[in-house]
Amino acid sequence: MAKSSSKAPAKDPTPVKAAATAKPAAPAKVPATPKAAPAAAKAPRPAGKGGKAPRVHRVAVLAGDGIGEEVVREGLKVLDAVADIEGFTLERKVYPYGADHYLATKEAMPASALAEMGEMDAIFLGAIGDPRVETGFLERQIIWGVRQTFDLYVNLRPIRLYHEALCPLKDKKPADVDMVVVRENTEDAYAGLGGIHRKGTPHEVAIAEMIYTRQGVERVIRYAYELCKKRNKKRRLTLVDKANAIRAQDIWTRTFAEVGKEYPEVEQDHAYIDAACMWMVKSPEWFDVVVTPNLFGDILTDIGAMIQGGLGIAASGNIHPGKVSMFEPIHGSAPKYRGQNSANPIAAIEAGRMMLEHLGEAKAGKRIEAAVRHVIETGRIRSLKAGAYKCDEVGDIIRDAVATGQGM
Ligand SMILES: NC(=O)c1ccc[n+]([C@@H]2O[C@H](COP(=O)([O-])OP(=O)(O)OC[C@H]3O[C@@H](n4cnc5c(N)ncnc54)[C@H](O)[C@@H]3O)[C@@H](O)[C@H]2O)c1
Repeated sequence: MAKSSSKAPAKDPTPVKAAATAKPAAPAKVPATPKAAPAAAKAPRPAGKGGKAPRVHRVAVLAGDGIGEEVVREGLKVLDAVADIEGFTLERKVYPYGADHYLATKEAMPASALAEMGEMDAIFLGAIGDPRVETGFLERQIIWGVRQTFDLYVNLRPIRLYHEALCPLKDKKPADVDMVVVRENTEDAYAGLGGIHRKGTPHEVAIAEMIYTRQGVERVIRYAYELCKKRNKKRRLTLVDKANAIRAQDIWTRTFAEVGKEYPEVEQDHAYIDAACMWMVKSPEWFDVVVTPNLFGDILTDIGAMIQGGLGIAASGNIHPGKVSMFEPIHGSAPKYRGQNSANPIAAIEAGRMMLEHLGEAKAGKRIEAAVRHVIETGRIRSLKAGAYKCDEVGDIIRDAVATGQGM
């Protein structure tokens, strides 16, 4: 894959209304730690049976806006079920940040909460964004704030199809859609450099800088090579960029080639972003691991989500290896479905699985993966669209599948 062709349309910004009257902050309805275990603080753990310390993972839960609360509730339902079986505890602290809290208090995300989260093992996020608040404000304060504060430089997005009936592409089977996109997560047009000068005048100037540092590019490319080697499938790593038009991205081309010398077992592949969108639809079976700058990764993985069945199943991790990291569905808050119990929670459940893998609970992760795969492969869940099932019904089905070891 080398030549560029068709143009990929950019994602439209979501239209929003002006902020409405403040509502009192709703208490977070996601359940706290089961059996009232103490929250948050890092303390030595008492020894369990046989002198082995019980495994306790401290998790910050940020349900956020729109459908965030309901999908996170189902995610936690499944996580608790698997924790019971595998013998660990998720000790959690639920945070209220999001639009309701902001409209009631004018507080988006206090530094004290970020500091507390830094002491935990992981962050489990629903979604942020609400039409009552200025476009992108809460997303920037909360999602971007967490990504930048904890330097979560990898945005990991697995794309896997579990049943051909869920794929909108003709004749594509599960074996054809199995890839991972490694999206750089802290730089590019999302670094926050730029602004609007003389706004609203005929002389208005709007600037957003795309920035790439050698260190930032190299570490994410190295992560992708390592992942490709470890995954041990096609051992093909595709760099997706637009270095022919955006010459600053030559830093990606050179770094990719240089780091690649350390990984002779991994095939180096390249596609420009416009062609990559085309190939993703035409021949998804080509891809194994993809590494790409922030903006292109954001767009490309929505195509990925659709070919794996929709936003209802696509999960992601915002990762700094070895440090506190954040896991979330890739979808947003889908405000029109808020409170209807109709959103599909599998993306949040899968994000929970990725979180457990990050926390070293590989067996528990496998159990969730097997359960999700099983209920889809066997047709127990036939559609991932909002409204096809009740949100809590899907959570119950997967919790029961996890509890009975289905698909294992
Ligand atoms: N990481 C995040 O929290 C995040 C990501 C993307 C968008 N956002 C924010 O979310 C808000 C809404 O954005 P949007 O409408 O562009 O994207 P969205 O992902 O919220 O929704 C787009 C469409 O995808 C479908 N969808 C999304 N989640 C689903 C689910 N769980 N089950 C079934 N169908 C689902 C729905 O048809 C929905 O209308 C905006 O404020 C945006 O900024 C937040």
